[in-house]
Amino acid sequence: MASFIYLDNASTTRVFNEILSQMPDIFEKYFANPNSIHTQGQRVRNLIEDSRRIISKFVGSSEDEIIFTSCATESNNTIIRGTAYIQKDKNKILVSPIEHKSVLNPARYLAKRGFSVEFLKVDKTGVVDIDDLEKRLDKDVFLVSVIHGNNETGVLQDITKIGKLCREREVLFFSDVVQSFLKEDINLEFIDFFSVSGHKINAPKGIGLFYKRKDIEIEPLLLGGGQEKGYRSGTENPQYIKFISDAVKIWNSNKSEFYNHLKGLREYFEGRLKEVIPDVYIVSDSVDRLPHISCVIFPKIDAQTMILALDSKGVCVSSGSACSSGAVNPSHVLLSYGFSKEEALRAVRFSFGIFNSKEEVDKTISFIKEIYDNYMKFIYFS
Ligand SMILES: Cc1ncc(COP(=O)(O)O)c(C=O)c1O
Repeated sequence: MASFIYLDNASTTRVFNEILSQMPDIFEKYFANPNSIHTQGQRVRNLIEDSRRIISKFVGSSEDEIIFTSCATESNNTIIRGTAYIQKDKNKILVSPIEHKSVLNPARYLAKRGFSVEFLKVDKTGVVDIDDLEKRLDKDVFLVSVIHGNNETGVLQDITKIGKLCREREVLFFSDVVQSFLKEDINLEFIDFFSVSGHKINAPKGIGLFYKRKDIEIEPLLLGGGQEKGYRSGTENPQYIKFISDAVKIWNSNKSEFYNHLKGLREYFEGRLKEVIPDVYIVSDSVDRLPHISCVIFPKIDAQTMILALDSKGVCVSSGSACSSGAVNPSHVLLSYGFSKEEALRAVRFSFGIFNSKEEVDKTISFIKEIYDNYMKFIYFS
């Protein structure tokens, strides 16, 4: 039993015990290079290809549509930059403003190199404005990128509808499904690319993948030995590739139980929180959200104070704000929903995982109440 309460599962998750326990054995038995033609190399190759088979079966794709990478940041960079570099006549990319930085920054990188990058509108609940998208889908657009489930607020987008619109206009559609993978259903029919990260689904850090529809060409980021059909050169990580497919198997065989557990914890948390602090604002609780993320704007108290005070009680949570040059910058996601800078700086993200319990939520609620009451007394007397 951990001595802390970990409610930061959108940042990363604890590795499944079933994966941890097999690590020494797998590393010992499968250490040869999967690109070697000798028997030992081919045993390791089989480990990779078995994993690809498991994942593609789960996803509903063919095996050669799954490309392993080191993380979702690498997958996102490969897709955004890789689609741009092969363009001949088109030069525009449409991106939602609520993407993860690993999508936004490659898009900004392209903007500096002569591509046109336009940001889509989102409404106050964080849902992408489809009419706005439709208007902007002109003949110059080669790619649209819209995240499926937002990592700060959990808000879900209708990626089937968006993808269908893109397909009708012959524009490629990419969705970062890092937070929704294995939690929400993903219909591949109108999706050309999606990205996944191992460490968000209880596999280790350092493994990711992307789906690429097989008839689409992209340029790889890395040139070298031509591994992963040339889309990701560099010796593969066979062990971690096995572990990500193990995580997919475990999640898939417990899918509804895990989903209900996460949603149950989040609903219980939000209900109890509103009882102890009636003025809390739960971001986008009126729209479809991922089951495990709750973004809370506390009255008066800023997020940094709340996060550090919870940390001193052993509770790990995060916010979307980032520190740079000693200043705290509000989350770009909440600003694009229309929240003020001051409101965004009071937002704390609680994200639940399959190892969390109701008792942990109860403890967290009592810590929040204590921290909040003390803070209110402090500002009243100062
Ligand atoms: C939505 C989303 N996309 C991409 C990433 C990047 O994933 P990785 O850490 O595997 O690079 C994250 C991680 O926080 C994420 O939440």
